Amino acid sequence: MIDLKYLFVCIPLVLCYDAGTNVQLWTCDGGPRQQWVMDSQSQEIKLKSDGSCLDISNWSKDNGANIYIWGCHPDDQPQNQQCIPLQWSYNSTTYTITSKLNDKCVDGSAYGTSDGTNIQQWECTGADNQKWMYNSTDGTFHYGMDPTKCMDAGSSVTPCQGASVEKLPFCDTTLDVAVRAKDLISRLQLSEKISQLATGSAGVVRLSVPPYQWWSEALHGVAGSPAVRFNGQIPNATSFPQVINLGATFDMPLIYEMGKVISTEARAMYNQGQAGLSFFAPNINLFRDPRWSRGQETPGEDPYLISQYVINFAHGMQAIDANKFMKTVVTCKHFAAYDLENWNGTDRVHFNAIVSDQDLVETYLPAFEACVREGNAGSIMCSYNAVNGVPSCANSFLQNTIVREQWGFEGYIVSDCGAIGTIINTHHYTSNPADTVAAGLHGGCDLDCGSYYPQHAQEAIDNKTITEADIDVALTRLFTYRLRLGLFDPANDTSYHSLSPADVNTADSQNLALKLAQESIVLLQNNKSVLPLDPKLSVAVLGPNSDATTTMQGNYYVKGTAPFLISPIDGIKSMASNVTTAKGCDVKCTDDSGFKEAVTAAQNAQAVIVVVGLDQSQESEGHDRNDISLPGKQEDFLMAIRSATKNPMIVVVMSGGPVDISWAKTKADAVLWCGYPGQSGGKAISQVIYGDVNPSGRLPYTIYPKDYVNQISFFDMGMRSKPGRTYKFYTGDAVYPFGYGLSYTTFNFSWSEWEKLPKFQMLDELSSVQYQVSVTNTGSRSGAIAVLAYMTYSDVNAPMKQLFGFQRVELNPKENTTIFFDAGVETFMTVDKGGNKVLKPGSYTVKIEDLSHTITLV
Ligand SMILES: *[C@@H]1O[C@H](CO)[C@@H](O)[C@H](O)[C@H]1NC(C)=O
Ligand SMILES: *[C@@H]1O[C@H](CO)[C@@H](O)[C@H](O)[C@H]1NC(C)=O
Ligand SMILES: *[C@@H]1O[C@H](CO)[C@@H](O)[C@H](O)[C@H]1NC(C)=O
Ligand SMILES: *[C@@H]1O[C@H](CO)[C@@H](O)[C@H](O)[C@H]1NC(C)=O
Ligand SMILES: *[C@@H]1O[C@H](CO)[C@@H](O)[C@H](O)[C@H]1NC(C)=O
Ligand SMILES: *[C@@H]1O[C@H](CO)[C@@H](O)[C@H](O)[C@H]1NC(C)=O
Ligand SMILES: *[C@@H]1O[C@H](CO)[C@@H](O)[C@H](O)[C@H]1NC(C)=O
Ligand SMILES: *[C@@H]1O[C@H](CO)[C@@H](O)[C@H](O)[C@H]1NC(C)=O
Repeated sequence: MIDLKYLFVCIPLVLCYDAGTNVQLWTCDGGPRQQWVMDSQSQEIKLKSDGSCLDISNWSKDNGANIYIWGCHPDDQPQNQQCIPLQWSYNSTTYTITSKLNDKCVDGSAYGTSDGTNIQQWECTGADNQKWMYNSTDGTFHYGMDPTKCMDAGSSVTPCQGASVEKLPFCDTTLDVAVRAKDLISRLQLSEKISQLATGSAGVVRLSVPPYQWWSEALHGVAGSPAVRFNGQIPNATSFPQVINLGATFDMPLIYEMGKVISTEARAMYNQGQAGLSFFAPNINLFRDPRWSRGQETPGEDPYLISQYVINFAHGMQAIDANKFMKTVVTCKHFAAYDLENWNGTDRVHFNAIVSDQDLVETYLPAFEACVREGNAGSIMCSYNAVNGVPSCANSFLQNTIVREQWGFEGYIVSDCGAIGTIINTHHYTSNPADTVAAGLHGGCDLDCGSYYPQHAQEAIDNKTITEADIDVALTRLFTYRLRLGLFDPANDTSYHSLSPADVNTADSQNLALKLAQESIVLLQNNKSVLPLDPKLSVAVLGPNSDATTTMQGNYYVKGTAPFLISPIDGIKSMASNVTTAKGCDVKCTDDSGFKEAVTAAQNAQAVIVVVGLDQSQESEGHDRNDISLPGKQEDFLMAIRSATKNPMIVVVMSGGPVDISWAKTKADAVLWCGYPGQSGGKAISQVIYGDVNPSGRLPYTIYPKDYVNQISFFDMGMRSKPGRTYKFYTGDAVYPFGYGLSYTTFNFSWSEWEKLPKFQMLDELSSVQYQVSVTNTGSRSGAIAVLAYMTYSDVNAPMKQLFGFQRVELNPKENTTIFFDAGVETFMTVDKGGNKVLKPGSYTVKIEDLSHTITLV
């Protein structure tokens, strides 16, 4: 049986090239098994037990170019590291292995699912594409599962070039995309069609159709993935702050700018053969429960905030040029109700989320609806979990009825990686492969990130559980988007063809990454205005995350995807002259032997900055938290430092998910939350501490007291289940609430045109109500604030409040500005138990900061 831990934890982000402990057992036809090890420093691969493995001559099967994609053993996966599959080529003449990342070889990277087999489709210089089967039980490779079906991967062909194809309708650039897609599909044989159903889509040489790898990643910057190749030979991609930080900025115009930068870098890499154009981002699942480790990848816990995020991200990423070509395609993931990795013995591929209609419509679907209707995203990813008994990727109600019929989605749906196999293997929703393929295709999932479809589609046809027409439906959607990206048009026709490495990691993109980090930092506590700190004070910089580098990237990055990483210590040293450092302990903080040195440093300094929090060892894909307090003895560490000094003590919390920091709240002089602030994180942190930047971030989630996890089951999807989830329903006392955030200046708010605001309104005459708010900076420093507008309801069934608008303004001292919020009819609607949006009589109070206004609908 396949080890699911291996498959689902490792595969999406496999290979850990800096573990230094990646030992692979290889065998070749009849030859002895060989052990290879990678040196994490030099990234060289060497025979581990030299001399013991001699016969490598049999390797020279493919003109000396055996390509291998490494998967990592879970034990080798280093914490804090994203992993990607790498391709290696073995030169049988020189006996060397080198990275194939920058040549033309493509990998199908279609990973096996059901039976412990990883299937690879390889194309090597001058040779046919070859299928290899990897047996994960005995660690052997076998050539050709069915050699008769092997096709040339066609990576050398240029689409629509050559006399035999250039006159065909699908190559006619004057025709409609729909006509071209239809024509192309009509020319494919069944086996060729089947080969298009996986993210590693094969080429069709006779039609000059190149292969296409659909799997690229770009959660907060272009990141390692099968189609994105990094190996130090490529330009450094800008590594923006983790998405939870981006939520905290409440600055959507900058998210749009970020989308433009990421897609520019993506196109530039694509032009170098280093990236695909379809990206598995953004992650727009709602951060329902503080334990969820991937909440860090989302903009937070509010459906409206997440919706605004996805709209702006998608518009920036997909921007359509003058010739109507999309720049890239975004994929809104993970549909639907996916927000649990592994808890109390149930992991995401076994989890069946029981979701009420009310919660579905009110909480779990809105961001996806915004993704489709306003974001115009080209793609959606179905999730690992089941929803109300039906695996997401087979969920026709969600994918066909809601997304396609109700929302009018015209794009394609791709499975999370390996998720088609889970329909049968972990959800046991089907009992044979033919039915499984049918469940996925009929359920609305067009593309398998995996290999289940290509392996079993023929069987499904033979058994009449699907028809060729079903495959055509999926292929129509898929080729439409390849055409819309310009992949079958002369490269020069797109306005992106001239983007080059010079467009990656520019000074402007570095500044944008820094600005987003600055705007994301949340000032939670600042007693007696201890901040901003005087840089002339001697300062001890302490704590497990004080020297954080890759930790600041959160997840979905790979070594090499940031041009530089400025740690908190680096940032502070660049601004203060008398700095001592001592970590005290690492993030796990099980060992307190380093406390003493830190205590001494604290005693000798005029101020202390302690950077505590989490990293991927505490919260990573597949690994949720059970406990939401600071890990190990971190709180003891804070106490030890507090006892050592009466001088200002500033606590900086670096974490993706929320951490109960009650102790710091009452005992530290100042507290900052900085999320995972990306490549310039340490600079942004120090600029806030020393006052070069006035903090303006607001918490994108509720920070709950640590006992919260004992009060509600992680499995309980109910937003109203006691004591309630998110600011909308949580009735307990938060350590810090959603939207909390201080500034070094003060703001005053007043209604403009108050007299025009209606007090009563006939229900059936309700239209949008416009609120005008004058905001004045009443303090002595320039500063920014994201003004938040909430609706509250007299209806007891409704949420306690709901964010319906926000706008960030920057003001100099004494300066004022007027901003506008439209409360449309939707703002007054609530969702009833049946999942219907209803407009009811009652009183509705709009709250904008400390202002409020009530309308009674009659
Ligand atoms: C990428 O960043 C590294 C480290 O800063 C630098 O040495 C290298 O030149 C950069 N590469 C490019 C193409 O800019
Ligand atoms: C489906 O067809 C294949 C032949 O392609 C056959 O081996 C298999 O038993 C059939 N399965 C079912 C469930 O009918
Ligand atoms: C396309 O670009 C190439 C390389 O820059 C150039 O040589 C060629 O003339 C261009 N073709 C057209 C039609 O603009
Ligand atoms: C740094 O600060 C410490 C403690 O305040 C002080 O003793 C020391 O003289 C300072 N060093 C310099 C170079 O100013
Ligand atoms: C800071 O002020 C809060 C009240 O605003 C108080 O609870 C806390 O104890 C104070 N912290 C310190 C270190 O005095
Ligand atoms: C967690 O697992 C234990 C042991 O299987 C079980 O008794 C308990 O009910 C589970 N808790 C929840 C909330 O499912
Ligand atoms: C703030 O605005 C209100 C009007 O909403 C006004 O009464 C009050 O004096 C202002 N406060 C300051 C400090 O300007
Ligand atoms: C805003 O500033 C203008 C110009 O200084 C001033 O006339 C006006 O009264 C101010 N409005 C508010 C609400 O403070």
